[in-house]
Amino acid sequence: MLARKRRGPFVAGNWKMHLTLAEARELAREVAAAAPGLGGSGLVLVPPFTSLAAVGDAVAGSAVGLGAQDLYWEDKGAFTGEVSGPMLKDAGCAYVLVGHSERRRLFGETDETVNRKARAALRSGLSPVVCVGEVLEEREAGRTTARIDLQLAGGLAGLSGEDMGRVIIAYEPVWAIGTGKTASPAQAEEVHAHIRRRLEEAYGKGAAGCAIIYGGSVKPANSYSLFKEENIDGFLVGGASLEADGFVGIVREALRAYREET
Ligand code: PGA
Repeated sequence: MLARKRRGPFVAGNWKMHLTLAEARELAREVAAAAPGLGGSGLVLVPPFTSLAAVGDAVAGSAVGLGAQDLYWEDKGAFTGEVSGPMLKDAGCAYVLVGHSERRRLFGETDETVNRKARAALRSGLSPVVCVGEVLEEREAGRTTARIDLQLAGGLAGLSGEDMGRVIIAYEPVWAIGTGKTASPAQAEEVHAHIRRRLEEAYGKGAAGCAIIYGGSVKPANSYSLFKEENIDGFLVGGASLEADGFVGIVREALRAYREET
């Protein structure tokens, strides 16, 4: 294993459409309380819009960052139901998910809308976490990297090398999300290494600062072996992030792998 990693794990908890305000506040407090013991990691909580302010308050003064699950690409206007980048920034967010597979599959997001949203996020001073990943049929047909290439080319179109220093890529094989089926470390690493090569081809050294995180049934039991892989820089965690023990356990195991390397 090469001692390539210069940074500890970046781990974001995507709470999806879960938790009341009181539950969100409680979970955020628990994670913030654990953060001092997780030094060297980057921690982000990604609650639903309704809990952003409460979670922001609960993690204020801690090392835990705040992210949103989506944004619209216009800054303001008559777009009922949408939330803009400047609004998220104002609510204390530093990050925003863009193009999560659930948004692509259930809400019609395309590489073009992903691109508009990624640009809008950057324009508002937010770091977009751009999600890519193949469905099972694509993997079985040997079309995984072709699919990822299309998502990267479309989703990142027009971004500069400098922009890429603020972008995070989340590789989430759709067949591994919420299914309990994790990609093996080798399967995930193969795609992460591919993404790294593509980013270097497109952006040169600008891509070096770009974290590539893995998502899909990550839990404390597989975090160590996944983070051991050279090009896996952290995780986007769904289900396991809804309990402090699960989320903190994932970070702790990744940190254990990181510390063995450095
Ligand atoms: P999961 O979700 O950890 O529940 O598989 C990951 C995600 O959708 O970001």
